[in-house]
Amino acid sequence: MEKQIINGLKILQMKIKYNKFIFLVILTFLTSGAVFSSLPIAYLNTSGYEPAQQETAQGKNGMVTTQHFLATAVGEKILNQGGNAYDASIAIAFTLAVVLPRAGNIGGGGFMVMYDKDTDNAYSIDYREKAPALAYKDMYLNDDGTFNDKKLSTFGYLSSGVPGTVAGMWEVHKKFGSLPWSELLKDAIYYAENGFNITPYMEDVLKNYNQKLSYYPETKSIFQKDFPNFTNKKLFQKDLANTLNRISSEGKKGFYEGYVAESIENDMKKNGGLITKADLKNYNPVWRLPLISNYRGNKVITMGPPSSGGVHIIQMLNVLENYQLNSYVHNSPEYINILGEVMKHAYSDRSKYLGDPDFFDVPIKKITSETYAEEIHQSIKVGISTPSEDIHPGMFLQQESHETTHFSVADRFGNIVSSTYTLNSTFGSGVVIEGTGILMNNEMDDFSSAPGIPNQFGLLGSEANEIAPYKRPLSSMTPTIVMKDNELFFTTGSPGGARIISAVLQSILNIIDFEMSLEEATKVRRIHHQWQPDVLEIEYYIDDKANKELIDMGYSVKIRRPLTCIQTIMYKDGKYYGYGDFRRPDAYASGNIND
Ligand code: DON
Repeated sequence: MEKQIINGLKILQMKIKYNKFIFLVILTFLTSGAVFSSLPIAYLNTSGYEPAQQETAQGKNGMVTTQHFLATAVGEKILNQGGNAYDASIAIAFTLAVVLPRAGNIGGGGFMVMYDKDTDNAYSIDYREKAPALAYKDMYLNDDGTFNDKKLSTFGYLSSGVPGTVAGMWEVHKKFGSLPWSELLKDAIYYAENGFNITPYMEDVLKNYNQKLSYYPETKSIFQKDFPNFTNKKLFQKDLANTLNRISSEGKKGFYEGYVAESIENDMKKNGGLITKADLKNYNPVWRLPLISNYRGNKVITMGPPSSGGVHIIQMLNVLENYQLNSYVHNSPEYINILGEVMKHAYSDRSKYLGDPDFFDVPIKKITSETYAEEIHQSIKVGISTPSEDIHPGMFLQQESHETTHFSVADRFGNIVSSTYTLNSTFGSGVVIEGTGILMNNEMDDFSSAPGIPNQFGLLGSEANEIAPYKRPLSSMTPTIVMKDNELFFTTGSPGGARIISAVLQSILNIIDFEMSLEEATKVRRIHHQWQPDVLEIEYYIDDKANKELIDMGYSVKIRRPLTCIQTIMYKDGKYYGYGDFRRPDAYASGNIND
């Protein structure tokens, strides 16, 4: 019966590809009798698009997974040319900057976690954006201390931090690269110069962001030239091709010095932005010790501050190790209750104690200690939702933002790369620097832009993450690698702002505790609680009975569309497996790597 429903749903989905509303209504009808915890997997694709990933990818000699099939193909090509996972990742990062302009970038930044086979060691690099030298604590406040216009930190020139992606990739190449740098930029340049087909999904995104992408003429001339008729069109980015050519021949100097740096400074000056040539020249990515922990006998390698992701993944896993999670029905109200309570503690700590470690003493040891985990465990009352205000008074979380992307690569040599990078919001600040094709980030909004003062959403920030020159804004990006017996078990990561941390957590639990297949672990619904607002989010759907049980426990339940996109690679019995999350339908994993 379930199989029939799944097949029926697949056909339905194809027929009414773009009619999300009807699709949802029919699905709700078909599955009205379904048990909350065992909904057919096909139910979950409410995006209305046919996902690029149809089945789990397999490969003996490596695996690539990214949020765009063209970038995946480029990664594969580099591996087939004899390149290693680092080479492929660099090529992917540059390709995504072209084919996934909503998140892929050279005008943003991110984090990369790596396991290097040769040295049998884990590494992580922080290529997060930095506040410009002229940034200051109250830059988004009025003279009377009230919050100015929220848009200043999210839209336009003042919202950008100094980009880190190009310097980050350059560093990774210097340390681990094996193919020539210029080889790794060839495909990105090709797609920027010659264009690539706009997919139906991208078409909708470009239409939905018409207003944001039309404000600045430079941005409009690239991304809205064909509005509203994107069907069967290609996206060309000639200026970006020139910039990538400079980076290809001059290395990182092609971005941080010379014509590009000059263009960024000039455009910023003309439009009230702060980034200068000196900021660009001084930008430095940082090799940081990855955070390493153990969860049920598996080694978890993840990103430390200025990402909050790794700290809280370890904190939550430490608490959850006290529960026999697989004795619960997956996603049952009882299971959701435990996850929800643990998440509240983690996110409340995040609001107060997490920030750039170069500026603020982040109590990593304390938050990730077994003693603290036990304290939290003891305080959780199973079957009850403790109101968020009783868990931690004061600080609220920052506002959620909307776009980022994750990619992972494993190669035949045993190297593993897991990287998440971002422009922050979809299409970042909306600014393309004149004559360069570079879409800039709006990462300044990841700072607590109004410390102590509620912003328009009623949210507060904290001192740990207040704005300062050269400081990095706090992030939730959580590129993670899990090893078993000194071999890859899986690597994972996701976009989704604050929801990244809870998504990565559930990805880990689904695989380790519930022994799900890669496809299942990716597809099942995710829940999210970030302490403030005191709301339990559940993806897509909840049946009445489960909803009532959660409400009776004290939760305020909200059904919401998916905002994360897990990209996972697994390794088992000598084979890699990959799966691109259908939540972003162009996502694709492939393991067609030659012997
Ligand atoms: O670094 C962060 O946590 C955010 N800038 C990430 C934004 C994000 O994931 C939006 N994606 N959907």
